[in-house]
Amino acid sequence: MSKRIAVLVSGGGTNLQALIDAQGRGEIPGGEIVAVIASTPEAYALERAKGAGIPGYVIARSDYPSAQAVTQALVEQLRDLDVHLVVLAGFMTILTRELFQAYENAVINIHPSLIPSFCGKGCYGLHVHEKALEYGVKVSGATVHFVTEECDAGPIILQKAVEVQPEDTPETLQRRIMEQCEWKLLPQAVALFCQDRLAVEGRIVTILPPKTQAM
Ligand code: GAR
Repeated sequence: MSKRIAVLVSGGGTNLQALIDAQGRGEIPGGEIVAVIASTPEAYALERAKGAGIPGYVIARSDYPSAQAVTQALVEQLRDLDVHLVVLAGFMTILTRELFQAYENAVINIHPSLIPSFCGKGCYGLHVHEKALEYGVKVSGATVHFVTEECDAGPIILQKAVEVQPEDTPETLQRRIMEQCEWKLLPQAVALFCQDRLAVEGRIVTILPPKTQAM
């Protein structure tokens, strides 16, 4: 049975686009993006969804009294859509435990640093790259991980590094990490999940070999 994927977005949606393109090339066997849920109607990612013929929805924090209430609304929507995998692709609303209880080891996030560096509350988007440059690291990169209650601290699925160049600005570093890391890692991780190739034990994720087809 194909796994039904919902992608949650807040902004430009370049990671969503990478998933749509990978799906178009047949690189996500066993999975299908059935919904894009945005935290704001202004998210350009909704245009990308429309362009790909994927239904778009908006669930905005400002329409709910608490983080718990918005999470509950989200879980209801995901259940209505019969979703198996939730992908946070630049989703900037803090969610509460109701989501991770409903979807244990089935919520994936992409973060633009090598976790556990430059992550946690308040560390998102361009801020991550500003902090990396201020610190003077010589490599940075991206991490795809399962989401748990603790921000950016769930089991790591895939990581990829790039070199920081002396002339880098937050914007150039962000772009290099997106192009060389994020847009490759996220579709790979989603494909592995959809083929049941991720085994989680405590913090450790093991990538299982591909299943051989029965004759
Ligand atoms: C991406 O760089 C993603 O890794 C980051 O936001 C950007 C969204 O870009 N996510 C976080 O910082 C989460 N903590 P996109 O909308 O073009 O995919």
